[in-house]
Amino acid sequence: MKILFLNGPNLNLLGQREPEVYGKTTLADIEAMVRKRAAARGATINFRQTNLEGELVGWIQSAKGAFEVIVLNAAAYTHTSVALRDAIAGTGIPTIEIHLSNIHAREEFRHKSLIAGVCRGQITGFGANSYILGLEAAINIIETIKP
Ligand code: DQA
Repeated sequence: MKILFLNGPNLNLLGQREPEVYGKTTLADIEAMVRKRAAARGATINFRQTNLEGELVGWIQSAKGAFEVIVLNAAAYTHTSVALRDAIAGTGIPTIEIHLSNIHAREEFRHKSLIAGVCRGQITGFGANSYILGLEAAINIIETIKP
């Protein structure tokens, strides 16, 4: 089971960035947590972050054939990026949208996700645990494809 975790802009600042919204856990802490659970579940993960939209598009494109599922926290690009949506649709790799905060309970501009319609589903509002839930959803998809 090969799962690619992609993180978008400003998620490198987790821990110091608006802790009242995103908590005090750093992205490195989240990665360690996900690695531990993935190892226990027999999954291999690759965990990346970038502030650049085009880099995310490139990573999604090159995931084809290398990973079975993508777990994506596209951060602010969730609400703006047709390019990300097209990359997910174009590669056809099952993708799970995740967010730390509940985007539907925040400012109105965050209620709309341009990627939701091409993702398998959306996990939003469970803090760092959204990543663990994303991992479990990814494993479930892989086990369903290959029983
Ligand atoms: C986020 C929610 C987005 O609206 C925001 O732009 C982020 C983080 C989350 O994980 O809660 O940067 O994706």
